Parts: sequence; C-alpha cells; structure tokens
Amino acid sequence: MNTLTLMTERLAISLPHSDQTPAMLAFVVRNRQHLKPWNPPEPDGLYTLTHWQDVVANCAAAFDAGSAVRFWMSARDQPGHIIGSIGYSQIARGPFCSCVLGYQIDRECEGRGLMIEALRATNHYMFEQQKLHRIAANYRPENVRSGRLLAKLGFRIEGFARDYLFIDGAWRDHVLTSIANDAFNAGWLKTTTKR
Ligand SMILES: CC(C)(COP(=O)(O)OP(=O)(O)OC[C@H]1O[C@@H](n2cnc3c(N)ncnc32)[C@H](O)[C@@H]1OP(=O)(O)O)[C@@H](O)C(=O)NCCC(=O)NCCS
Repeated sequence: MNTLTLMTERLAISLPHSDQTPAMLAFVVRNRQHLKPWNPPEPDGLYTLTHWQDVVANCAAAFDAGSAVRFWMSARDQPGHIIGSIGYSQIARGPFCSCVLGYQIDRECEGRGLMIEALRATNHYMFEQQKLHRIAANYRPENVRSGRLLAKLGFRIEGFARDYLFIDGAWRDHVLTSIANDAFNAGWLKTTTKR
C-alpha cells in the first residue's frame, strides 16, 4: 500500500487508505445533495463500504501505473474525518505530460479557503513530483465557486465546450481551463515517458 501525505497549515492530504473507507462513506452520505449538481451518475453501490474498499484498491493500482493520483483530505486536528477529495486523472506522458483535475469539499467546510490551500499543495506535487506540464480543470458555468477557485489558483480559461460531460442527469456545457508548469524541465520527458 502506497503512503504519501501532504501537510498544509490546516490539512492532511493523503493517498486513500483502506482504514479511511468508513470516513469516506460518511462524507458521501453527508454530502449527497451538495455534490449531486456537479457529479456524474452515482455508480451502483456508492453508499457501501465494499465500493470504497474497491476505490482504494483501484486508486493504488492507478497510482502505481502512473495513470491517476487521488487524494482524500482531513483537517490536521481531525484525522479520522474526511472533508474532501481531489483527483488527477487521465495522466498522459510523452510530449503531453498532462492530466485532468477534479475536487470536492464538504458543504460544512466551504468558504474557508480550505480547497485552495489543498490544491496549492497537490498541484505543486503534480508539477514537482509527478513532473507534469499541464493540469486541466473544467467546470459548469453555473458553478461559480469552482470558477472563482480556479481563477485564484492561476487557471486560465481556454474555451467553452457544449454538452461536454453527463452531469446531474444531462449533458452539460463546461468552461475549459488549465494551468501550466513554468518550471517544467524538458529533461523530465526522457525520464517519464515509460511510466
Ligand atoms: C468548488 C468548491 C470546492 C469550492 O469550495 P470553496 O470553499 O468555495 O473554495 P475555497 O477553498 O477556495 O474557499 C474560498 C472561499 O473561502 C473564503 N476564505 C475564508 N478564509 C479564507 C482563507 N484563509 N484563505 C482563502 N480564502 C478564504 C474566500 O473568501 C472564499 O469565499 P467566497 O467564495 O465567499 O468568496 C466547493 O464549492 C465544492 O466542493 N462544491 C461541490 C463539488 C464541486 O463543485 N466540485 C467542482 C466541480 S468542477
């Protein structure tokens, strides 16, 4: 089992661990209505521990394969209570060195700057340790909070995609954004293409 924890001023952000599955299940139960407008259709078994045990195993396999990195986050002073998750999927190497970011925070924790604090740390990790050049993040125009968050982090709007993702029961338009790693070293291309 991989272990990696990023500590910020207020947060502990780690790769998913099987010990955390009850806390993650509690997070999705608590936030079902909060997350519904922004999420794809719920998979069968989402509200079961078995589902989350499978997620932990799949995340570990994807991390090892270099195809995705998922983080679960807690307040530093409440390590057993999950308040959000962050995922970097579709990791591509070669001349692209890119990925797609997704994130969600507990409704009770919005408006405190916690997600921006978390994403500063995880984006830094993806650029410095995973050696990527580009992180893409796309949001529904109605998701004002998400748009503000990305702008504060330095993501730039690159376009608008009609009917981009099937979210909350229908195909939804999305604003397309990304941020590039200005410190990307071209020498990394040789070391990461085989991942
Ligand atoms: C999108 C989402 C992560 C944004 O969360 P958030 O809490 O608004 O984001 P931040 O962590 O950046 O917090 C920013 C807010 O905290 C406030 N804040 C308070 N203390 C702060 C601090 N120390 N530092 C920074 N901001 C602080 C800011 O003023 C801002 O408030 P405002 O939005 O009223 O202006 C959250 O709404 C969410 O999870 N939504 C559901 C899932 C979702 O939409 N995912 C994204 C799909 S694209």
